[in-house]
Parts: sequence; C-alpha cells; structure tokens
Amino acid sequence: MSPSFLCLSVAPNAESMSPGASCDTSLSISARKTLKVHGLVPPQPESYASQKARCLAQLARSQTNIDKYLYLSALRHRNVDLFYRILIDHFIELTPIIYTPVVGEACQRWCEIYQHPEGLYVSYRDKGRVADIVANWPQEEVEITVITDGSRILGLGDLGIGGMGIAIGKLALYTGCAGIRPDRVLPLTVDTGTNNATLRSNPLYLGDRSEKVSAEEEQELLDELLEALVRRWPRLVVQFEDWKNPFPSLARYGEKYAMFNDDVQGTGAVIMGGVIGAVKASGIAPRDHRAVFFGAGSAGVGVAQQIVEYFKTEGLSETEARKIFWFVDTKGLVTLDRGDKLPEHKVHFARDDNNGQQIGSLDEVIDHVRPTMLMGLSTIGGAFTPAIISKMGLWNQRPIIFPLSNPVSKSECTYGEAIVHTEGRVLFASGSPFDPITYRDKTYHPNQGNNMYVFPGIGLGTILCKASRVTGSMIYAAGQAVSARMSEGELEDGLLYPRLVRIREVSAFVALCVIRAAQKDAVDDEKSLREISDAQLEALIRAQMYDPHSV
Ligand code: NAI
Repeated sequence: MSPSFLCLSVAPNAESMSPGASCDTSLSISARKTLKVHGLVPPQPESYASQKARCLAQLARSQTNIDKYLYLSALRHRNVDLFYRILIDHFIELTPIIYTPVVGEACQRWCEIYQHPEGLYVSYRDKGRVADIVANWPQEEVEITVITDGSRILGLGDLGIGGMGIAIGKLALYTGCAGIRPDRVLPLTVDTGTNNATLRSNPLYLGDRSEKVSAEEEQELLDELLEALVRRWPRLVVQFEDWKNPFPSLARYGEKYAMFNDDVQGTGAVIMGGVIGAVKASGIAPRDHRAVFFGAGSAGVGVAQQIVEYFKTEGLSETEARKIFWFVDTKGLVTLDRGDKLPEHKVHFARDDNNGQQIGSLDEVIDHVRPTMLMGLSTIGGAFTPAIISKMGLWNQRPIIFPLSNPVSKSECTYGEAIVHTEGRVLFASGSPFDPITYRDKTYHPNQGNNMYVFPGIGLGTILCKASRVTGSMIYAAGQAVSARMSEGELEDGLLYPRLVRIREVSAFVALCVIRAAQKDAVDDEKSLREISDAQLEALIRAQMYDPHSV
C-alpha cells in the first residue's frame, strides 16, 4: 500500500504533495503544471481565505453534528493543511465537533460512519506478530501515539474499536494546540474484544466480537505492542487514553517508556493548575484548606494526587497534604475501616481518623468536614444541590466548587446554580463548558478545566527534549505552567484558566516548563536545550510548531 493512502501530506511544496493535496484549488498554475494536474481543478487558483470561506459555508450546511464531524474528517483526509488552518483559526467553534462532545457520538456510531483508514488497529489475534502490524504504518516518522482499548470512552462505556475516534480527535488537538506535525502522529486502537453486547450483535461492528480478554492477556499484548512501537520509533511518546482501569499500565510502562495517562495525569495537572489560582484567590492558606472529593475514581484520585504535590511545594508534608482530602464514593466516606476491600488508589486517601464512624452520604460528609473546596468527579449530575452550594457559601468567603464530571448533563451543578447560591462569590471550574452568567447586573465568566490546556504541551515538550520518561515533575510543571501563564486581564476577570484563544501560546509555554522539568530530572537526551535561555527556548518551540498557510 502506498504511504499516501492516509493523505497525510503536510508539505505545501508541490514536489512532496500527496495525491489528495495535489488537487488543492490554491495551487499555482506552475505547480499544477509540474504536478500534471493542470485542468483537473477549476482554472482560477484561489487564496486560503476563499477556500476557508467555502469550507465554513459547506460545514454550516451540514444538518447534524455527526454530518459536521464527517465533513471535517473528509476535509482532513483530502487537504490536511487546510483542515488544520481552519481548526487553528476557528478553534473554539470547531473543537466541540472534532473532540468532545461530538466525537463521543462518532465513537458510538464508528462502524456506521466508518469511511477510510485513519489509525492503526492492533487486535488480540495479532499477538505474536504485532511488529508486522506496526511495520505497516505508512508514515516513516512518528513522534507520538494515543492508545486506547475503547473500554471507557468519555463516560459512554465500552465502545470497542469505536474508541479510535478518541485517539484521532485527541491527536488532532496535539496538532492544533501544540503544532505536532499531523504526519507524525499515530492513532492506535487495541482490539481485545468488547463487553458491549449491543456492539457484538451489531452486524456492522468492525471489531472482534468476543468478550474482552483477561487483564493478563491484555497485558501480554500491550507488552508486545509497546516493544514493537519503540523498536520502530525509539523516541516515541505514548499517551494512554480512556482505559477502564488506567493504573496497571501506568505503573508498568510509566517507568520504562516516555508514557503518560491523560485521564489520570493530564486531568490531575490541569485541575491542579486551576486549584493553584483558586487557593490564592480564596485567601486561605494552603494548609488550612479542607477538600471534599465526590467521586473516587481514576480522575478524582489523579486530581487529588496532583494537588498533594502542589501543597507539598507550599511546605506541607505528604501526610499533612493527604489529610486535607475527604473522598466520597458510592458507599460514602472512604475510610480504612469501612469494611470493604479498597482498591489501591483509594487506600492512599482513606481516612483513619473517623473513630469507627462511617458516614454514608455527601450531605453528611459536607456537614462533618465543612469544606473550603468541593470537587465533583462522580458522574452524578446535580449532586451539588442548592443546599450544599449555599452551605459552601455560608462557611467560606470564596468557596471553591469544581463540578468536573462530563458531559454537561453529569455536571454536579451548573454555573448558574453555583453563582446564585453563593451570591457570585464562588471560585468555579467545570469539566464541561457553561455560558457566562449575568447575576445582579454583573457578568460572571466560567472556567473549564479542560485537559487540552496541558496534554499537547506535555507531548510537545517530551518530544523536543527527547525525554526518556514522563516524570511526575514534568506533569506537575505542566499544571503549574497553565496557572503561571494567566494574563493580567484574565486574572482581573476572575478566570482560573487562560482563554482558549491563547491555547497555542499556552501550549508552547507548557512545553517549555515540561522541558525544564525533564532537564532537572535528567531524563532529557537533547542536552543542547539546557544551554539556551527560556526566551530562546520559547522562540525555538514556537518556530518549529506546525502552522500551515501562515504568512
Ligand atoms: P470513574 O467511574 O472511575 O469514577 C467515578 C467515581 O464516582 C467512582 O469512585 C464512583 O464510586 C463514584 N460515584 C459514582 N456514583 C456515585 C454516587 N451515586 N455517589 C457517590 N459516588 C459515586 O470515573 P472517572 O474516570 O474518575 O471520571 C469521573 C468523571 O470525571 C467523569 O464524568 C469524567 O467525565 C470526569 N472527568 C473530567 C475531566 C476534566 O474535567 N478535565 C477529566 C477526566 C474525567
């Protein structure tokens, strides 16, 4: 198969164009002659601006969200430079289509909407010859891969090989936000069967119809896959995404490869970035905070672990920092003596100071703890009731309330509720987007703790300094960078995160901080970057970011 089947040309010069891009209406007459496509496209060479206007008009005519998704997917396939230029220029409008929430529907309907190859599928049946499959990937150079097994896509459950949509969407953001070249990314889906019976009985399903293999069998396949990947691309950065249980692979591969898990570490870093700003704005010293976490899954624990790191930099010991957290799950307050066997990740935050008392509900925990900070990672929409929010407002001048569950229907409260029941005093960040609120003649701007503030910069920084690992300090640096890059205007507007229109600038700065952290941990193999100043490094990062059609 020819390498051009993926239509991943990113080179605007005529010589190296793929067949897809060679029919670009912006080609000059001389380029058309060189490529022998003169006459195959309408006669008048046109500007990027008119190409963009046509694309946006066509996109607007698409009737449904999934039609828009398919339109953009086809555009990326036939003219990758144009797709990314439009994405970069219209980032806020287009990201919800190529990524959440619309990509969720695309993943659910993957086998119905499938059109062309866009990623690599490695099946459990390929075990023993995974290197051959990896060798089939047509692009010579790959810098980063996003790997999923589709087992827990965006809170939509096990979508089998439909998870490929997530890997593709996420890598599009690596390119759009951090300028990682689109011909150097690898969307990868591991097909180890699916426990989704509806999918298995769908005649159009394109994956293995067996039930999911055991955890041990999956690990054998992953061992072989990661070995094959780094044998072909020794500097590959690996990001795991949307695995039902993210912790075993993180423990197994995080020390061996340049690997990280965005659900745990990316979420932890970005929320920590918001918490740093919120703690400062609250006027309460870090050691005097009390945080109730509603939801003790991978995201909740990942976030808390990262915030512990922040509190440690503020002078608290690990034990002191952990004592700031009270976790609540389906069985109530997480305690060591609750009687059930706690998974490893919950043990670290289980309370041992409850004197045998078990507290069953969020309301009771709130009354017991009187928190300064309330975080929602439970997937339970509306769990932060007006009564709970009002109490937070009563006990705190600036209550910190982060309802982080996605999608918006699962958000623990809305922005409007948080504003109204705290009389506008809340320090708020959510997982899903909310509109600004006007309350008592004042307009308030919500914050979205979106992982896209950090993961593109983590990936870019790791690639550029050729880090052999993604260390905890690199993840920490990414979260801290987001908070450090707030502009004065954003701070004045009460924001906890930079405006998304600045995402490329923020991603470059995150990459810089990730590189500096890698250098401190001595995991960077590109030593030349140690010699240059921050200003030079930032200029270098920005100069090499893929930025098609920019003049
Ligand atoms: P998970 O399924 O691993 O964890 C959910 C947790 O909530 C579990 O501990 C469960 O016991 C608890 N829970 C569920 N129902 C409950 C109930 N009725 N009462 C008390 N506790 C209950 O899910 P994961 O991956 O931890 O994600 C949680 C949420 O966080 C999701 O909605 C996800 O979309 C969101 N998230 C947000 C991110 C962001 O804002 N940047 C990033 C990653 C995840």
